[in-house]
Amino acid sequence: MTITECIRWAKALLVAEGANLEAYLLLEQASGMARTTLYAWPERSLEASVIQQFQTLVQERRDGAPIAYLLGRREFYGLELGVDKRVLIPRPETELLVDLVLEYADDRPLRVVDLGTGSGAIALALAAQRPTWSVTALDQSEGALAVARANQARLGIGNVEFCCSDWFSALPLQSFDIIVSNPPYVESDSPYLQEGDVRFEPLSALVADNQGLADLFAIIDAAPRYLAPKGWLWLEHGYTQGHSVRQRLLECGYQQAQTQRDLQGLDRVTGAQWP
Ligand SMILES: C[S@@+](CC[C@H](N)C(=O)[O-])C[C@H]1O[C@@H](n2cnc3c(N)ncnc32)[C@H](O)[C@@H]1O
Repeated sequence: MTITECIRWAKALLVAEGANLEAYLLLEQASGMARTTLYAWPERSLEASVIQQFQTLVQERRDGAPIAYLLGRREFYGLELGVDKRVLIPRPETELLVDLVLEYADDRPLRVVDLGTGSGAIALALAAQRPTWSVTALDQSEGALAVARANQARLGIGNVEFCCSDWFSALPLQSFDIIVSNPPYVESDSPYLQEGDVRFEPLSALVADNQGLADLFAIIDAAPRYLAPKGWLWLEHGYTQGHSVRQRLLECGYQQAQTQRDLQGLDRVTGAQWP
């Protein structure tokens, strides 16, 4: 098959909006050729092994596999992160969490911890933006930490230390200026879990008890032991959870609890300051 024939075959199979772009992305992935080469030589015949790999990728995509897993990468806050099925695919709305942490931080070199780091998205974005900060990033999944450490090595970001921990449990008592987390916050019976990319992501990265609030509340309750005076806790949550999160923060004695909306106008991130 030629390049043109491969693309035509894939577009017929993928059908949906974006099929043309995805066909090219998957052919780049299978062939190792740059997009410009694919455009420049449409009549070039491809090797059988490349065609076979391409067809497998296209069929997996047709069956719903996330394009990020098939390509093995996703961009987040200007960083190209490696991703696979051991980690949540970083979401654009999580960039709001990074924006807010940066916006509310002062100019000192700060100590930061990212709870549930997954691919390392938040920790690596903060560390890249603020090279003087010391960032600790933890996850309870060794698989996720392997992905995050590989991202750190490839990106050459030095000021992050990863560690395996069930929330704070493995961290020696110490104080941080900022605690940030995008924890699991989806209800276990949510229909959202049956949709799109989410079906392929680790449930342990998505689902929490107590209508999705259990991990958010566990972090809010435990964080004061690890927060420096005037330190900030920033949490991503579901769009219906802002009120419950603010209420819990105030009950625990935090101040200035405030919820910010994402680009779709939905409650998405809440921050509060420890007195
Ligand atoms: C929603 S994902 C967020 C991943 C990444 N921070 C991001 O924003 O793309 C939640 C992460 O929390 C981790 N996690 C779940 N329960 C945990 C626990 N008890 N302790 C530490 N990490 C946990 C999961 O393994 C997963 O990587």
